Amino acid sequence: MYQHTCQVDDVSEGYVKVGQLSDFPRGKLSKVQVGSEEVLVVNINGTIHAISNTCTHRGGPLNEGELEENRVICPYHGGQFDVTTGKAVSPPPTKDEMKFDVQVQGSSVLLKKK
Ligand code: FES
Repeated sequence: MYQHTCQVDDVSEGYVKVGQLSDFPRGKLSKVQVGSEEVLVVNINGTIHAISNTCTHRGGPLNEGELEENRVICPYHGGQFDVTTGKAVSPPPTKDEMKFDVQVQGSSVLLKKK
C-alpha cells in the first residue's frame, strides 16, 4: 500500500517548521521564532496565518495582545493589525507588519519569510 511519509527533506525550500497544527488552536495568539524574527501565528477558522510579532509602532509584543475576529490588538497602545494580511488597520501604527507564507504538511506547520 502506498503511504506518504513526510520527511524533513520534504520541506520546501526556505520553509521552517514551527510546530504542529495542534499547537495552534483557533483564536490563540502564539509566538514562534523564524531565524532572527519573532512571528505571531494565529489560527482563524482553521486557517493558519503568520505576521511579524513586533508592533511596527513602538515594538509591542503582539502575542500578548488580544484577538478580535481577524485583528490583533497591540497591548501597548491599542493599534490593530489584520493577521490575515499584516495590514495596519487602526492607529497609532501606520506601517504594515511583514507577512509570512504558511504551509501545512501533514500535521506540521511551516513558515517562510516573504
Ligand atoms: S507599540 Fe503597538 S500600538 Fe504602540
